[in-house]
Amino acid sequence: MRRAVCPGSFDPVTLGHLDIVERASKIYDEVTVAVLINKKKSSLFTVEERMALLADVTAVYGNVKVDSFHGLLVDYCQAHGIPVIVKGLRAISDFDYELQMAQMNHGLAGVETMFMTTNPLYSFLSSSLVKEVATYGGDVSKLVPERVLTSLAERLAAP
Ligand code: PNS
Repeated sequence: MRRAVCPGSFDPVTLGHLDIVERASKIYDEVTVAVLINKKKSSLFTVEERMALLADVTAVYGNVKVDSFHGLLVDYCQAHGIPVIVKGLRAISDFDYELQMAQMNHGLAGVETMFMTTNPLYSFLSSSLVKEVATYGGDVSKLVPERVLTSLAERLAAP
């Protein structure tokens, strides 16, 4: 079975992430979306909430699992028999850091990284920008799945 992982913070998942996950699900037999547990980074949604949103919006693909991990991504990959990391590249500005991580991950454990160029519709898109725009009342309805839009509205309305 050909397995791949799409790792990230997914706080929250955007249509840019989903585009990559969907395309990966057509190439690999099983794709795991792995949410990084990072206690040092403050987040809008808990890891459990992010996983529930991801499970909801990826259910349609049929071969996508959602999980969380902490520590090194390559340790997660090795523990789960996953030889490939799939990442989206939005712009050349992503490339330097992604190249470093890909080379480090390959050097550490022989785990390969496959890059997909993002859909140009989402080349400017990030979870941070979505949160910022939504916080100030901007329209993010074309940038996140419907389910995430509802959760964002609820979370940002909370006192
Ligand atoms: O969505 P993000 O926050 O840009 O995702 C970054 C992520 C989770 C892919 C990256 O930080 C990561 O792989 N972290 C796990 C820790 C690790 O393996 N670090 C060494 C990378 S070479």
